[in-house]
Amino acid sequence: MAAHDLIEKFQEAGQGQVFAYFDQLDSAGQKRLLADAAEVDPVEIAALNESLLQSKGAVVDLSGLEPAPYEPLPENGGNVASWQAARAAGELALRAGRVAAFTVAGGQGTRLGYDGPKGTFAVTPLKQKTLFQVFAEKLLAAGQRYGKPLHWFIMTSLQNHEATESFFAEHVYFGLDADHVHLFKQGRMPAVDFDGKILMESRDAIAMSPDGHGGSLRALDRSGALDLMERERIDALSYFQVDNPLVRCIDAEFIGWHFLRESEMSSKMVPKAYSGEKVGHFCRQGEGLVVVEYSDLPAAVQEETDAAGGLRFKAGSIAIHILDREFIRRMARSRSTDESLSFHRADKKVPSLDVNGQSVKSTEANGVKFELFVFDALPFARNPVVIETNRADDFSPVKNAKGVDSAQTCRDDQLRQFARWLRAAGKDVTTDESGLPSIAIEVAPTFGYDEETFIESWKKLSPTPTLADGLYLST
Ligand code: UD1
Repeated sequence: MAAHDLIEKFQEAGQGQVFAYFDQLDSAGQKRLLADAAEVDPVEIAALNESLLQSKGAVVDLSGLEPAPYEPLPENGGNVASWQAARAAGELALRAGRVAAFTVAGGQGTRLGYDGPKGTFAVTPLKQKTLFQVFAEKLLAAGQRYGKPLHWFIMTSLQNHEATESFFAEHVYFGLDADHVHLFKQGRMPAVDFDGKILMESRDAIAMSPDGHGGSLRALDRSGALDLMERERIDALSYFQVDNPLVRCIDAEFIGWHFLRESEMSSKMVPKAYSGEKVGHFCRQGEGLVVVEYSDLPAAVQEETDAAGGLRFKAGSIAIHILDREFIRRMARSRSTDESLSFHRADKKVPSLDVNGQSVKSTEANGVKFELFVFDALPFARNPVVIETNRADDFSPVKNAKGVDSAQTCRDDQLRQFARWLRAAGKDVTTDESGLPSIAIEVAPTFGYDEETFIESWKKLSPTPTLADGLYLST
């Protein structure tokens, strides 16, 4: 679109302030601003202002919410034969190369206070491996196990794309085939003030931020990732967040449930640890499956108990899914409001220009960011299935600098897992009552990916190593 037309489009939508200083910019500045503006659809912003700002319509519909059904683990009453069938189906799919891994890593990681792509944050107890290295080694291990190297898609954002790319190149893709690692950027959305006016970061830049992990569906389509998957005959993506090193990036049972049920989107749940735990809740609403965020579900509802005295809404979302390729394409391309993701509103402090064109850093929320959430795709998915997983073997995210979900809690959870595996292999490990060993140890994913693979590798060691602080088991 010509510059003139673009400017006019913004003026017509009442967003002329975006170009207030355009004539004073040098040609590089004008080019920069036009490029930002080309990413923004002022008509879409007007609709969002209407639905999320003016009508205060951000209120989530909680009508008719029921706890979602899920498949319990065999040890919690699940059907053993169904889990076995799922595992066999998952292994078959993996040997046929029907699944790739997908990490959403476009977030800004503000809570952690770490300056750099979150995937480059060091998390393991001894070797200080980064999140990306842990995932890479898990994928390497799964590729070896199923005789089919895995493709890995990673969604970055404008802010961290180059740094992420250089990180992988510098570390030679941690042993993965570079041709199998696909990085692509997610989209961006402008922030607006409380009157719906687009905020400016500077005179030649709109205040833009990543469009949420739900933006991954359109970014997968736009980047050509879905076409690549089709060419490679990859039918589904195993989706996980960059903050969780415990995740089984590739889990045959989960994959099997997904394919056997002909599901378009499958999810893992853990029973919530306590009523106020900050996770989303799997719920049924009418015929559909939905996730209701912790911030949207009233505390009184979160505290409701069932007949057995447990939490009624206990199915916590740990943001692990399997997504069908053609479902992603359908969601990415749907323009009907009935079958596409809706934006959520987040009130934030947005560094921006004031009316006099001066940069200001507000001490309180002065603007609204718009974000898409991937789990909002669930109500549109055919045959969605939710399975239970063991928290200790799938979930310990690093979100905060201190306290819950921090580097410390995640390190301890990794140590507990290594100790459990050693015990299962017959080794006597001293731990406290929470299962935390008194010594620091580490297991490389290529040595032990889960309890079963760990025991296999352990049995091959002759003699087995002495348990001591600093023991690192690798192949
Ligand atoms: C999220 C989920 C919550 C779930 C919890 C489990 C939301 C709104 N909530 O919470 O239901 O129980 O994880 O740990 O998602 N990301 C992008 N691009 C973006 C924004 C985020 O790629 O524009 C990625 C991040 O890099 C990260 C993930 O999405 O990998 C999660 O984002 P975050 O904002 O940290 O979610 P939480 O609030 O922790």
